[in-house]
Amino acid sequence: AQQRITVIPGDGIGPSIIDSAIQILDKVGCDFEYDYADAGITALEKDGELLPARTLELIEQNKVTLKGPLTTPVGEGFTSINVSLRKQFKLYSNVRPVLSFKGTQARYENIDIITVRENTEGMYSGLGQVVSEDGSEAQAMSKITREGAERIVTFAYEMARREGRKKVTAVHKANILKSTSGLFLKVAREVGERYPDIESAEMIVDNCCMQLVMNPHQFDVIVTTNLFGDILSDLCAGLVGGLGMAPGANIGSDCAIFEAVHGSAPDIAGKNLANPTSVILASVQMLEYLNMGDKAEKIRSALKDVIETGDRTTRDLGGEHGTTDFTAAMLERL
Ligand code: NAI
Ligand code: MG
Repeated sequence: AQQRITVIPGDGIGPSIIDSAIQILDKVGCDFEYDYADAGITALEKDGELLPARTLELIEQNKVTLKGPLTTPVGEGFTSINVSLRKQFKLYSNVRPVLSFKGTQARYENIDIITVRENTEGMYSGLGQVVSEDGSEAQAMSKITREGAERIVTFAYEMARREGRKKVTAVHKANILKSTSGLFLKVAREVGERYPDIESAEMIVDNCCMQLVMNPHQFDVIVTTNLFGDILSDLCAGLVGGLGMAPGANIGSDCAIFEAVHGSAPDIAGKNLANPTSVILASVQMLEYLNMGDKAEKIRSALKDVIETGDRTTRDLGGEHGTTDFTAAMLERL
């Protein structure tokens, strides 16, 4: 049967970069059927809900979703939609690869790092949130389970093995966060021993930040807990030219949501300035997930050519063009 994909254009720059990705998927002959659904501010304005039931049903039904960034309104009563989606569909792993392209403004070349971020536990578990009545004290709970840690670290090693990668670095803060990060590190060491063919390393998160900036080529796969993974993956995006270059896949046991790492970029929304690369690369991850590696490779190499020749690239890449011109340059090559 024809693969159906749930598409959430999202807020801000979302609709324009998602449109770019869909045109490219169609151009390489993917033959998907798309079910469009709303979420975020767009949905709130239309239906009075950030995450309408129909959207949830479509995510569940089709199992594969391509999603633009969503604006989470700041303030009382709104939990992040992304956090809700990841929890609701048990999307326990967040795979965030960064890859250098020549011709960007990046400070490094030949970067190829995948951050595997635990996506449902840790500081983002949403548990134990208490604010005292007078607002002078606030607390929240971080929860790590052996099951959750084992699942994510095993996912990282299996991915490393499948993709012929050499090294997995577990990043933690077990020296201070002895109970939570301590459990994560303990489990990471145990899992690592089951993969003698892959080099296992471990690093404390603050040192890891410094090492990523000073000597990023020592890293291959990084596996870590939710908050650290969120931060480190943006740092990694900075190594290859910024957030416009960084895709992410939220993967559970039978459901997946592919998206850009960045947000809705309100500062450039509606100006045809957004770099669509991150969402295009998210759709490449989606094709790989669907065992359509040949089409994924076609898109990746067209992207490489557009960026490396600087043919109609966007401002964040040092070019002078907009989302639509960048997309046209991609479509010509495909
Ligand atoms: P942001 O990622 O939207 O923007 C940060 C900076 O990067 C801005 O200067 C923006 O112009 C630039 N940028 C981001 N994507 C770009 C692209 N494709 N091309 C060129 N430049 C790009 O982060 P910010 O401003 O902190 O968040 C804005 C909203 O997005 C918030 O409501 C936040 O909650 C939401 N958000 C949503 C995410 C998601 O849906 N996955 C992830 C992160 C934030
Ligand atoms: Mg983030």
